[in-house]
Amino acid sequence: MKVLIFPDAKDAIAAAARLVLDQVRLKPDAVLGLATGGTMEAVYDKVADGVRETAVSFAGVSSFNLDEYLGLPPAHPASYHTYMRQRLFSRVGIDLAKTHLPKGDCEDAEAECRRYEAAIAASGGIDLQLLGIGRNGHIGFNEPTSSLSSRTRVKTLTADTREANAQFFDRLEDVPHYALTMGIGTILDARHCVLLAIGASKAEPVAKAIEGPLAATCPASALQLHRHATMLLDREAAASLQLVDYYQRVHPDGAPAQIEPR
Ligand code: GLP
Repeated sequence: MKVLIFPDAKDAIAAAARLVLDQVRLKPDAVLGLATGGTMEAVYDKVADGVRETAVSFAGVSSFNLDEYLGLPPAHPASYHTYMRQRLFSRVGIDLAKTHLPKGDCEDAEAECRRYEAAIAASGGIDLQLLGIGRNGHIGFNEPTSSLSSRTRVKTLTADTREANAQFFDRLEDVPHYALTMGIGTILDARHCVLLAIGASKAEPVAKAIEGPLAATCPASALQLHRHATMLLDREAAASLQLVDYYQRVHPDGAPAQIEPR
């Protein structure tokens, strides 16, 4: 696991956007795994800037989002379909037919989850999966005690998650109780996992994810099993890490590793 600690939130955000843009530059038909939440808003702004200012094209890119609220139709203002259309898809020239999110208003949720897994497999698998982290250590909507080998399925949201996400709805009562989410096993199948965490509210889950025991009580700790996981943190999100000096020495201010004999 690569732990990169940046002096400032904006540097960590820029690094996440750069990884996405570099992936697309390297492989113009890349399959991206995308995330939502407040943290990703600035990342998508930077990705959109990159597309506008450089030659990188999203015309051949496919995408799969982590999750969607069960019961919300795509046009609902707080759906992740709406979030993605507004924040990224409409700004980067991606072919909408190649963008995928679980359907929140599906009739048969189990069939929808199976369909979603099959679509990811048919695409050849996800090249780069962007991840945020919930205050309780969730990735996607894999709440604590999610099976570490789970696949896409319906999860019941915790009270804490509903409260954290109430800012995107008019009232707390409007936040759905269930979501369709890629499983932890689905996420671990991605060839590169990139987790971005910003701010003091993420310090505790970040420390558990990186340095805590591998445990279903902190779903993000499953990334310890991944062969290519990159954690992008600002100083506040890194504040509870015990080996912070070590990470800083390997990657000063998030810089690429310098391998020198010492
Ligand atoms: C939601 C999403 C997660 C995201 C989390 C953190 O719960 N399902 O994928 O990581 O929010 O969101 P924020 O960035 O707003 O803290």
